[in-house]
Amino acid sequence: MPAEATGSHAASESVGTTGTTTRDHDAILVGEDVIRRFGGLTAVDVDRVEVKRGLITALIGPNGAGKTTFFNVLTGFDQPDSGSWSFNGRSLKGMPPYKVARLGMVRTFQLTKVLAKLSVIENMRLGATGQRGESMLSAVFPTLWRSQEKVNTERADTLLQRFTLDAKREDFAGSLSGGQRKLLEMARALMVDPDLIMLDEPMAGVNPALKQSLLGHVKGLRDEGRTVLFVEHDMDMVRDISDWVIVMAQGKIVAQGPPSEVMANPKVVDAYLGAHHDSDVSVEAEEARLAEVREKLEAETGPRDREDGDPRE
Ligand SMILES: Nc1ncnc2c1ncn2[C@@H]1O[C@H](COP(=O)(O)OP(=O)(O)OP(=O)(O)O)[C@@H](O)[C@H]1O
Ligand SMILES: [Mg+2]
Repeated sequence: MPAEATGSHAASESVGTTGTTTRDHDAILVGEDVIRRFGGLTAVDVDRVEVKRGLITALIGPNGAGKTTFFNVLTGFDQPDSGSWSFNGRSLKGMPPYKVARLGMVRTFQLTKVLAKLSVIENMRLGATGQRGESMLSAVFPTLWRSQEKVNTERADTLLQRFTLDAKREDFAGSLSGGQRKLLEMARALMVDPDLIMLDEPMAGVNPALKQSLLGHVKGLRDEGRTVLFVEHDMDMVRDISDWVIVMAQGKIVAQGPPSEVMANPKVVDAYLGAHHDSDVSVEAEEARLAEVREKLEAETGPRDREDGDPRE
């Protein structure tokens, strides 16, 4: 159980009017005026964002909206041009990722960063340290380090069991399937017993069976008192597991709210969902599309006999 989780449900403010699950949760992560530019492109331009403690929040938005860049900045993997952000009331500005992780905020990567040439258990052990500082500890306090390593290994084995990766313990991480790597990343992130876990497209490229298992794991994280912020393109999944949805487009937060509300917001549908979601197509729209196809075909092959009608014949 994360250290902060016990005191996490203290009421401080009400954020939603319709979503009962979003009431009475304080913000675990707050960002203000965060701007990250790449040359002339403003990838992130967020006035204010709050991630509510103890909830699953989805960060959605079209490709290139700035979601990963925002993750990078918040977790210390990238520096913004300006802005401030704090976790559990503590400013993280200028803090390197391993320190952020030790404070209890970890992230996984869109393209998994498991170390292919190390075994699964070695990858897990690296997660315990935020990947820094262990060499000094081992040199100066070898006994302390060994006992810490034992604790870490026990924790790693428990997590491997939970994520059904225990049979792969000694295998090279590089031999795992895409979905198993995603599981390993999630398991590894839990080595620091985080309060907040940030998942960048945890389901991308994962087969349907494993997706269900991953979904269960994400819900499980919330059930044990952790906060989850995840980026996802699959709207069914977002609807299924999130308590709160934040929509990003062109670096800005353009909408947020409970999933049912956000998904019905025409601004969101126009900006994003239309391009990603199968919607009912009207007869008129279908006919217009067919006419377009006919025109293209005629341009390529000359006019067709109108009697046969269907350009697919
Ligand atoms: N290191 C970089 N250098 C230059 N431009 C970058 C860099 N990283 C990201 N960008 C640009 O910033 C914008 C936001 O990219 P980002 O990867 O954050 O989007 P995203 O919302 O995560 O997209 P996706 O859903 O495709 O993962 C894009 O236009 C991208 O090309
Ligand atoms: Mg991304």
